[in-house]
Amino acid sequence: MKHLVSTADLSIDQILQLLDTAEGFASVNDREHKKVPALRGKTVVNLFFEDSTRTRISFEVAAKRLSADVINFSAKGSSVSKGESLKDTAQVLEAMGADALVMRHHASGAAARLADSGWVDAHIVNAGDGKHEHPTQALLDAFTIRKRLHASASTGKKLDGVRVLIVGDVHHSRVARSNFYLLRTLGAEVRFCAPQTLLPSERAFSAVSYTDFDHAVADFEPDVVMMLRVQLERMSSSFFPSAAEYSSIWGMNSVRLANLPAKAFVMHPGPMNRGLEISSSVADSDRFTALNQVTNGISCRMSVLYHLLTQESAL
Ligand code: NCD
Repeated sequence: MKHLVSTADLSIDQILQLLDTAEGFASVNDREHKKVPALRGKTVVNLFFEDSTRTRISFEVAAKRLSADVINFSAKGSSVSKGESLKDTAQVLEAMGADALVMRHHASGAAARLADSGWVDAHIVNAGDGKHEHPTQALLDAFTIRKRLHASASTGKKLDGVRVLIVGDVHHSRVARSNFYLLRTLGAEVRFCAPQTLLPSERAFSAVSYTDFDHAVADFEPDVVMMLRVQLERMSSSFFPSAAEYSSIWGMNSVRLANLPAKAFVMHPGPMNRGLEISSSVADSDRFTALNQVTNGISCRMSVLYHLLTQESAL
């Protein structure tokens, strides 16, 4: 595999290999000297056209722990504001020696465009394109689920039969889409819960859906509840009546947490809107994995960069 653009492109063997390698790298991250020489001499460019805290820093840390050189490019303050195109920007960065371009872009399909165009030879990693996909987020989420479930009950390496309820702004969420493809390939059962206006409308991206959170929990008995951020920046009109109504009907709070199956846990990709899709009492509870997800993201991104840049393995 030359690029990572969509989790829909990944076979089960590729996913398992990426997760297994990530597990190996997790032990590097536990060491006192958190570095291996695997990508010494390679250059990774973080090409970010949209804001990010976790994903950009996580890719930077991942590349550095593999001993690659890292260049951080942010569209703000660059020649993009003078009108330079994606093609020209990417070619300039490649002319400076980029072996991989890790790109976040506000346009759905931007990563695929760069990967398929032949404009550059570099490996392309999609770090989020519009409301389309965010494959490394799905990998780190699967890694987190696998780890958490293994700690309590051994389910094997896949996620056969694991029930995942994705709740909130599914319609605008690249996290939901990438998770949907990847978790289903791993054997999990994925369902959605959202206001009718925020459920996805495409055929390929649809599942059993609920509009009532409490009914969804009672009916589906999820092992995992994945909360999504309400993505106000992607909403041109009003998708729900008010923030107060949203949080009372679709928000995760301590009463809903207590109603989940005993071993179920709550995930969130971050950044979260405390008080909107999630209450502070849940965000600070030990059944909430957002910070584990951040930690696991480094190992998963190390795995992706390692496999793409060394072309080692069947990927
Ligand atoms: C997500 C994103 O940017 O897609 N955040 C992240 O990468 N951890 C989710 C979001 O912004 O809501």
